[in-house]
Formats: sequence, structure tokens, C-alpha cells
Amino acid sequence: MASTVDDSMPARIPKDCPDDVRDVLYTAWSHDLSDLKKILKTRDDASKAQDPTTGETPLHAAIRACGVREPSTRKDDENAASEDEDDEDDGPVGEAKETMEALFNAGAIWNDVDSNNETPGCVALRLGRKGLYRLCVDAGFRAELLLAVLDEYEELPSEEEDAGDDDAEEEKTDANDQDEELAGVETHASEQVEAAAANARFFPPDADEKNIMSQDYLKSNLTYDGDKLLDADLNGVMMAWETDIMEKSVQALLPGQATGKRILNIGFGMGIIDGMFAARNPAKHHIIEAHPAVLEHIAKPESKFGAKWEESGPEPGAFKVHKGRWQDVVPTLMDEGEVYDAIYFDTFGEDYSELRRFFTDMIPGILDFEGRFSFFNGLGADRQVCYDVYRHVLEVHTEEAGLDIEWNVHDVDMGQLDAAGKGDWEGVRRRYWTLKKYWLPTLTNMG
Ligand SMILES: C[S@@+](CC[C@H](N)C(=O)[O-])C[C@H]1O[C@@H](n2cnc3c(N)ncnc32)[C@H](O)[C@@H]1O
Repeated sequence: MASTVDDSMPARIPKDCPDDVRDVLYTAWSHDLSDLKKILKTRDDASKAQDPTTGETPLHAAIRACGVREPSTRKDDENAASEDEDDEDDGPVGEAKETMEALFNAGAIWNDVDSNNETPGCVALRLGRKGLYRLCVDAGFRAELLLAVLDEYEELPSEEEDAGDDDAEEEKTDANDQDEELAGVETHASEQVEAAAANARFFPPDADEKNIMSQDYLKSNLTYDGDKLLDADLNGVMMAWETDIMEKSVQALLPGQATGKRILNIGFGMGIIDGMFAARNPAKHHIIEAHPAVLEHIAKPESKFGAKWEESGPEPGAFKVHKGRWQDVVPTLMDEGEVYDAIYFDTFGEDYSELRRFFTDMIPGILDFEGRFSFFNGLGADRQVCYDVYRHVLEVHTEEAGLDIEWNVHDVDMGQLDAAGKGDWEGVRRRYWTLKKYWLPTLTNMG
């Protein structure tokens, strides 16, 4: 399908663009490295300049200036994640690379979106500029690794916190701090709008989308609607289109139709993967689920995983739904010496740091040495560039956790998933999946 985006310079750098933004954008667009370096040296934050209407940044401009790659030499976008093909390095593309390097070195942000809701990486991918796309992925990877380190640093208790001797008081203070943090997050979007209006700053198309916070989600009403489970804001918690991914995940965790295994599944949702695990006649099948409405659904007489199922296990406690958050339940399972051959992790409303915490702090204690672990890999799945960045971040963090990661790439049938609000997305607030390929991770202990 032909692109509907107008990539011309007048469309992206409009007449009313402020002068100090315009000169950076022009310089980046023309790949004038020597002028750009002068500007970057003399003006703080020039690398982050952004047109207030189109959201064009110098990175967008440097990439867009290269235009579409000739169709004769261009491979299909589907191979975006493959790393074997490059743009030619001479001419405008080589200049664009140098321009982008200079911008990244000066602090340019890899994932700012423009008025078309495109990051620089999205533009590079759409134009078929694989080499430029890869620079964006590399920059994103470096930035996200750094952010993760800073997050860890912030999480370290200060000496004063360490010195406290009243645990209960400490926990109360932590909870208050968390509430304050949450309040901060909630007001952030409206502050952004006001600041954008006051300073004529660019306001990204989806900036007022509120983040899904675990604490809110776990208190929200849920609706089971045949082929999907929705939260109170109509976010898709789980959808039937993921069935094929669940099936592939079970095959990866229990290869060769293995039966009689010890299985732990975190996050029941629609029970799709649990139905598949149950069909493998496990020796042990534990489920951890935190949401009261999901637990109520599981307890209904018509549910496959209610009291009767628990009683049907090969021994008492072999088939069990553990009620609560995995953060609280897994340490208890560890204390009880539970170990599993296959572990699947698919929660909702939690960010990457929770997944990382799970595979770093919990997996070593509960995965059999020969066992396998997988999770729903939907990190950044609403845009290819974020998905690719997170894959690289995962490779580093899982290795740090002593795990080998193997990827299997599967096609996703996008027939009903291509357009927001239509097909499978009808009645769903946000299209959280936009990609033609699912990268399925299988993790094992390093040998
Ligand atoms: C995406 S759904 C899981 C779908 C499931 N894989 C299936 O095949 O139907 C996510 C589930 O995780 C649960 N959940 C969210 N946070 C959790 C937590 N911290 N601990 C345990 N379960 C959690 C949600 O309530 C929801 O039921």
C-alpha cells in the first residue's frame, strides 16, 4: 500500500517553525555535518529540537532526506528485524549515518514521535533504509540499558532507609511513597498538555494515553467478552487471536508432546494456555493469578480450573490455583521447595522491570536445572523499532541472569489485526500488537 505520509521538506518543516528549531532541522536534513556540529556545540539541547506542529526532530529530518529506497534493491519490510542487509554507505545514506551519529552523541532521543506517530526508526523502516533503521535500534538499545542501570541505582536503599529498625513503619512509608509516585504519574499527562500549550511545544498524538498501572488494573472491573478479556478502560488484557502464540509457546516449553511435567503458569487471563498445559497431562500444574475477577471466573462451576480440577490432581496440591500476585506467591513456593520443568509468564499492567525481576530473582529458585522458561513477548509490540530494541535488551539481561535465550520467529496472521478499532480490535482501546512476526523466547539455564 502506498504511504499516505507527505515526506517533503515544506510539509515537515513548516513556514512557522521557530528559527532556532528551523536551522537545526535544515542542517540535519541537508546532512551538513560541519554546521550541525557547530550548532550542537554552542546550543544546549539542539539535538532535541522539535517543530511544534509536525514534531519533526533533527533525526527524523536526517533520515527523511534520504527518501524511499529504490524498489529494485529493497527487500520486504517483514525482514526488518534481519540484520544481514545494509543500505549503501556512500552518498546521502552515508552522510545521514554520520549526521545521526553526531546527533546521538549530542543526546538526541531515539524514540520521539512526530505528528504521524512515527519515531525516527519508524520513518527509516517505512522508507526501506535498513542501515539507518539499525542505527536507531542500536541507539535505543544503549539508551534502554542505561535507563535500566539508573533504575537499579534508584532502587538501592539509601543509608538512612537501611538504618530504620521498624519494618512495619518502613513498609507503610514505602506504600505512601509509591502512592505519591503514582499520583505523580497520573498528573504528568495533564502537566505535559499545559506545558506544551504554554511553550508551543510539540504534543505527541498519543501523549494523553494513560499508562496502565498494575495497582489500578488489579482493582478495576473486568469483562469476559467471548473472544477477549477487557479491563474497565477497554484495554485488551487477553485476546483469542493470541491462541496460536500460546500453542507455539507450549510446544517450545514441552517439546515432543512431553507429558507428566511440572508446570507453572503465571497469569490465567482466558485460561487459553492453561487449557493447553492441562491437555499435556502434567504431574503438577500450578497457576498464579492476582485479579479478583479472574479468580471469581475460575471458581465458577462451568470453569475447567475450579475446585473439581484441583481435586483431580495426581496428589493433593498438584493441581492448584495460587491466589495473589506472583511477587508474593513465588517466594512462598520457593520456601516450600517447589521446582518446575516448564514456566510461562504472561501478566498484565506490569512493565519490563517486573519481567526482569522475575527472571533474575525468581527463575533461579524455581526452574529445574533442565527446565524451560518462556513469556509472552509483547514488549514494545506496537512498533517494530521498540520490539527490536527490547529484544536486544532482553538478550543482555537474560545473559546477566545466567540464562540462554533462543528465539523462534513465527508469522502472525494479521488479517483481522491490521487496523485499529476494526476486526479483532473492535471495541478495544489500544492496538497493542502491530507486527507480522512474533519472536518467541525459550530460556534455559546456561550449561
Ligand atoms: C494476558 S493475561 C494471561 C493470558 C493467558 N496467558 C492465557 O492464555 O489466557 C494476564 C493475566 O495476568 C494476571 N496478572 C496481572 N498481574 C499479575 C500478577 N502480578 N501476579 C499474578 N497474575 C497477574 C491478570 O489478572 C491476567 O489474568
